[in-house]
Amino acid sequence: MGDRTAPTGTLLIRGGTVVDATGERRADVVVADGRVVAVGEGLTAGPGATVLDAGGCVVAPGLVDLHTHLRQPGSEESETVETGSRAASLGGFTAVVAMPNTNPPLDSADAVRSVLDLGRSATVEVAVAGAITVARAGERLAPMAELAALGVRIFTDDGAGVQSAGMMRCALEYAAALGVTLAQHCEDASLADGGAMHEGAWSSRLGVPGIPGLAEEVMVARDLALARETAARVHLLHLSTARSVDLVRVAKVQGVPVTAEAAPHHFTLTDASAATYDPLFKVNPPLRPQADVDAVVAGLADGTIDAIATDHAPHPPESKDLPFDLAPPGMLGLETALALAITGLGLPIRQVVGLLSWRPASIAGLDAGAGGEQGGPIAAGCPANLCVLDPAARWTVDPAALASRSRNTPYGGRTLTGRVRHTLFRGEPVVVDGRAQR
Ligand code: DOR
Repeated sequence: MGDRTAPTGTLLIRGGTVVDATGERRADVVVADGRVVAVGEGLTAGPGATVLDAGGCVVAPGLVDLHTHLRQPGSEESETVETGSRAASLGGFTAVVAMPNTNPPLDSADAVRSVLDLGRSATVEVAVAGAITVARAGERLAPMAELAALGVRIFTDDGAGVQSAGMMRCALEYAAALGVTLAQHCEDASLADGGAMHEGAWSSRLGVPGIPGLAEEVMVARDLALARETAARVHLLHLSTARSVDLVRVAKVQGVPVTAEAAPHHFTLTDASAATYDPLFKVNPPLRPQADVDAVVAGLADGTIDAIATDHAPHPPESKDLPFDLAPPGMLGLETALALAITGLGLPIRQVVGLLSWRPASIAGLDAGAGGEQGGPIAAGCPANLCVLDPAARWTVDPAALASRSRNTPYGGRTLTGRVRHTLFRGEPVVVDGRAQR
């Protein structure tokens, strides 16, 4: 490492364990001009350097969220690029993929450009998922080539699945030619429409119309067949049932180009939560029974499910105050995802970080291999997008203390293990000691 003293004006992360895709080692990290300049034991700070304590902490590549609803444009009362990015930084993220179900939707070059522009002053990298179809209506393809030319690497009609197999096949053929990924919200409307929670024993007992697991599984099966046929990359959003996980497991063995994600609520909560009719537990796909939760955990553990994604879906209090069947689906995720993964999965910390950092970075095309700056590794010369997290810290979720503009977390009052201490975005400490710096 040559000179072991950090030069003036730099930042030293001291006393942590560096964890990235290449392995795990005790090391200090020196950052200057937005980049990591040294990694090694016993580094010291030069005059004027900022020192961040990482004692007892993991120093990881910044987390990457494949699935964030930033609500801008159109629902700024719920979230904005600025407030959502601050929540993301506090959650340890240094990049988010903004979902296109805004108003207007992100189905045109102008709309995509407007979010990319807002993202330029954010505390995380804001990538955009473009819509697959115009107005996410499933009828006409969005101008995918034009959006890809703006840097869009992932397309989805999230909030709804593309219902027509013919339309999806056509979109996949375009996606293959453009080298982009299609992300599917797997939900067959003919099976799901009118439902408000998982169809099963609890929905019968509560008298709430149900959404069967089958609504997800038929579209998973269909899209795996289409991906096999077109050789286009398909990413399956928020998988929630055991059979979906099994379908993906088999398809991967057969070489189908598929990746999948799961959201923290699908591995930490069950449909029994709806027993109080509290709309904070309403989400799409719905919370499922314990056997499905166990299958999602197993899928994350064995790599069938590649990534954890938040599906951060802010809604203002007045909309969540409606009766269960009328309230909109969705829950906050950015500020609790890491702790829920550490608390809920029981996996080694390096595996948890991989599920939240380098795996999603690569799916989103934001990793070094794709010319991006997310997901590590943490080595001299690499961009300093970093998350310093204390895997043993215990804290209790206080909805009022969240940075999101909305409050709709179902985890209020829960004590979790694992907390972000510092986040660096392009070398700037945007979170220090758990506090946002701007
Ligand atoms: O619960 C959900 N909320 N699921 C979705 O697919 C969309 C999201 C939203 O935008 O609120």
